Amino acid sequence: MSKIITLSEFIIDRQADFPYASGDLSRLLSDIGIAAKIVNQQVNKAGLGDILGAFGTTNIQGEVQQKLDVYADEVFINSFRNGGEVCGIASEENDAYVAFDRDLCKKGKYVVLFDPLDGSSNIDVNVSIGTIFSIFRRTSSVGDLANINDFLQKGCEQVAAGYVIYGSSTMLVYTTGYGVNGFTLEPSIGEFCLSHPSMMIPEDGKVYSINEGNMAITTPGIQAYVAYCKEVDKKDGRPYSARYIGSLVADFHRNLIKGGIYIYPPTTGAPKGKLRLLYECSPLAFIVEQAGGLATTGTSSIMDIQPKELHQREPLLIGSKNMVLKAMEFIAELESAKV
Ligand code: AHG
Ligand code: MN
Ligand code: MN
Repeated sequence: MSKIITLSEFIIDRQADFPYASGDLSRLLSDIGIAAKIVNQQVNKAGLGDILGAFGTTNIQGEVQQKLDVYADEVFINSFRNGGEVCGIASEENDAYVAFDRDLCKKGKYVVLFDPLDGSSNIDVNVSIGTIFSIFRRTSSVGDLANINDFLQKGCEQVAAGYVIYGSSTMLVYTTGYGVNGFTLEPSIGEFCLSHPSMMIPEDGKVYSINEGNMAITTPGIQAYVAYCKEVDKKDGRPYSARYIGSLVADFHRNLIKGGIYIYPPTTGAPKGKLRLLYECSPLAFIVEQAGGLATTGTSSIMDIQPKELHQREPLLIGSKNMVLKAMEFIAELESAKV
């Protein structure tokens, strides 16, 4: 048996990657690991909501059972507010960003943007869901309140990004720009343990993940690429398999390990698709690129987009490099006239 490396040990070991680091980022990542364990506890009990309620154990304040996505949002926000490394946060659950006004927080060097529970429509049906986070160094001065420009940064400026998947087991996967590492929660000791060191996404895959219900209302390039995925060609293993869970984190995680492409395309009703640049697209783009894959809107790299607003949406094609490049070929060929 090889030695177990816990998330905390790993984070401390890796601090040497940042020669002038003060340890703030390490503490922040450790805090995220702890918050993830707290959320995991509740996610595991999701189906028991009514039963626990009936026993009068709704929550410690005696309030009515909260929706899990709101609960997760509060757990992460409290963890960041109490940690002192973060001067402000923006979350998919809140309309505006929150600038922490405690003196300790105003000295924080980082902002965090996150999707507290991704795939939340899957909570009630016992299907994997996740948390996605993105960390930037603030652009405002240390000591001031955080402002909007701290949050509206390009993906390529990220200091770290990661996700937690609450699945058949719970995993935390993150990058600080030095590769991607995955940790599995070992419930008996309550620790995330390094289980997937130096993750790389296969350059080619045989899985495509898209909501095919949208085929008639998406763009010609996407339609043509999905048709290509279904064509028979034994040389490259087509037809590919369709796999779509409806939880981005879960679909992304499977494709990261096995190879594949996830697409949330533009549709007639939503010309920028559904996913949010800052809470979903950018952090996963950082991870996939660190793992050797690609993330694009179809025409531009996700990492290079200058966000204009917090809840900005962008189309997303993400995954195995050659699959994403192939999809981009169809888009360039069939849609370039429109641009
Ligand atoms: P969220 O639960 O955070 O709002 O995100 C849901 C997202 C994403 O996780 C998933 O891949 C996608 O919505 C599914 O959308 P469709 O049902 O339109 O396919
Ligand atoms: Mn989401
Ligand atoms: Mn969400």
